[in-house]
Amino acid sequence: MPKLPFGRKSRPRVYVTRELPGDALAHLREHAEAEVWHQDTPPPRAELVRAVEQIEGLLCLLTDNIDSGVIDAAGSQLRIVSTMAVGYDHIDVDACSRRGIYVTNTPGVLTETTADFAFALMLSAARRLSEAERAVREGRWTTWHPSFLAGQDVGGATLGIVGLGAIGAAVARRARGFDMRVLYCNRTQRSDDEELGVTFNSFDKLLGESDFVSVHVPLTADTRHMFNEDAFNRMKPGAIFINTARGAVVDETALLRALEGRRIAGAAIDVAEVEPIPKHDMLLRVPNLLVTPHIASASVATRQRMARMAVDNLVEALQGNTPANCVNRDALAGKSGAA
Ligand code: DGY
Repeated sequence: MPKLPFGRKSRPRVYVTRELPGDALAHLREHAEAEVWHQDTPPPRAELVRAVEQIEGLLCLLTDNIDSGVIDAAGSQLRIVSTMAVGYDHIDVDACSRRGIYVTNTPGVLTETTADFAFALMLSAARRLSEAERAVREGRWTTWHPSFLAGQDVGGATLGIVGLGAIGAAVARRARGFDMRVLYCNRTQRSDDEELGVTFNSFDKLLGESDFVSVHVPLTADTRHMFNEDAFNRMKPGAIFINTARGAVVDETALLRALEGRRIAGAAIDVAEVEPIPKHDMLLRVPNLLVTPHIASASVATRQRMARMAVDNLVEALQGNTPANCVNRDALAGKSGAA
């Protein structure tokens, strides 16, 4: 029997900004009246603003911009904004905290899948897989030649991990299997870094010594454009840059220049400042860039786990509990009715 807060007569109304994989929606409907946006692309702003009116819970994706206007449009009964993502830079968390609204994310369940993908990008860029595949399809495989599509070795190389959180650490564990030397930089040194076989370094030193640089920081005011012209200039000339974090941690004009001028050997990015990358974007013209459409966490099982976790967070809040993955717990502490 669905559990409703004591004295409650009707089921809470929630809005879900996309169909969800697995059993997530069915589970949600055991606890709430759910309106779902059925298209694959995000609800337009006017639709979002209309749909959130009078809801108690919002389940959104990283492509939905949940700003203070949307939160205001929902009204004071809104209890939770639950995103099906680990990154929550698309939500105005401060605006939610001011109004006593929980913000939750889906950490942990996508760690290994995302690390697999970061590693796949590193191997692919090192060995020029997308260039090689294009060459075959375009009839440019004319013979075996000693230098045809020669790339770089991953085994034994130095990997620099920028942001050693859960995903960065999972990438580091994979790197051990490839006998890589692993450097990392973080706001603070981790106490388990020796156990992980990684060495703490400054950002600048890491850039100067790494053959591969993989980014795993959240997007914040501090990390926005941390990979700018200066950062790319500090990298080794033959280095490869990998980004599975957020597009805006990179100044894409600087990346374009670094790739075109062969300041670095290549890059592999799963995220972009503007997603989807416009078809005619100059970045798509450089051969030494491998680009994928924000799919690092896209295994069937992981996406189902993320959806279920986002629903579980939502249901917890609707039942009057503090959800497990609340990112604004500290800000809400002391506010009545929350955390
Ligand atoms: C996230 O969860 O933030 C990723 O970017 C998508 O899985």
